[in-house]
Amino acid sequence: MLIPFTKTTVIGSEIGYVSEVITSLSGLAENGKFSKLCTSLLKQMVGSDHVLLTGSCTQALEIVALLLKLSPGDEVIMPSYTFVSAVNAFVIHGATPVFIDVNPSTMNIDERQLESAITSRTKAIMVMHYGGVGCNMDAITSIAKRFNLPLVEDAAQALSASYNNKPLGSFGDFSVFSFHNTKNYSCGEGGALVINNQNHVTRAEIIKDKGTNRSQFLAGMAEKYEWVDIGASYVLSELNAAYLYAHLESIKAINADRSRAWSKYKSDLTGLEKLGLIEMQKIPENCLHNSHLFFIKLRDSLERSRLITYLKERGVTASFHYSPLHTTAPGKLYGRYFGSDVYSTKESNRLLRLPIFYGINQEEVKYVVDLMYNFFSVERN
Ligand SMILES: Cc1ncc(COP(=O)(O)O)c(C=O)c1O
Repeated sequence: MLIPFTKTTVIGSEIGYVSEVITSLSGLAENGKFSKLCTSLLKQMVGSDHVLLTGSCTQALEIVALLLKLSPGDEVIMPSYTFVSAVNAFVIHGATPVFIDVNPSTMNIDERQLESAITSRTKAIMVMHYGGVGCNMDAITSIAKRFNLPLVEDAAQALSASYNNKPLGSFGDFSVFSFHNTKNYSCGEGGALVINNQNHVTRAEIIKDKGTNRSQFLAGMAEKYEWVDIGASYVLSELNAAYLYAHLESIKAINADRSRAWSKYKSDLTGLEKLGLIEMQKIPENCLHNSHLFFIKLRDSLERSRLITYLKERGVTASFHYSPLHTTAPGKLYGRYFGSDVYSTKESNRLLRLPIFYGINQEEVKYVVDLMYNFFSVERN
């Protein structure tokens, strides 16, 4: 059996929607029928009035950095265990990322470190919901509020997941989503910016539209369409929106499919966890996740490499994840770590993600699980 780590999601309706864009002759650029449909679904899902589709989640983060008017010396607090887009968006403007540790059971930011990391230079707090599992938003929103700091949610992996029954992406002043090929709902490359803070809505549209007042002009709110601020082209093509809409309208089916695989891994690997051979991801009770990824932890990186090779030789691709940003060359150059690195490095070195994608069937999951038991020479009962 050959089981890739991930596969492009194809629901079936994508081709019809993409052809409709081509044949309708109403334009392939942005803000056509499917862009509007996607925007409206996202607004409903996140419960926000302001959603902008972007060319990627990275672009959405860049808009956030421009909205925050960051300059050299400003600091943004974030977990070290996160994706590079989060840090680049801020470093480009000369800001210093202040990295803090993670909670080992979720690999989300350790909110207990947050308050002590705040200085007079702190300009924002950025959290990332790893694998679509919510960070401790009660604690985080209360700290952000108390210190009057903008909160950014990197919800790249977290669409349709919730915390205390409230959608992830609805807590921050800003939140960003990714529709990259690897995500649950995708269009190759794509993203979205949710603006929950009314003060930033107009400027976000201007930045997205190359620094022009095009949106206001099209809405009849400006006489002329011209350059009014800094900006770039941060938009999603209508072709991508058509592909994305097929996924957004099928979120229930995609989630159900991924959840079947996720739950089988979780129940079938319990035997290895009980023997103390692996640890599995823990989902806090107040979090509803979207089965974006399934991770286990091995004893150390050596054992992880041995398992990766063992699985690969038998047709299964499993993958490690982020190198903590503070351990990389740019991380050392541009950022600083606050507190002790108790978990970020140690835990990321032993974390392994198992294959999960739309369409993976129970036989395939069983094959991976059986290989895991064989690797540890444990009989499955
Ligand atoms: C946590 C996180 N943030 C940001 C991004 C960037 O997303 P995109 O590839 O859409 O720019 C990703 C994508 O992998 C991600 O996982």
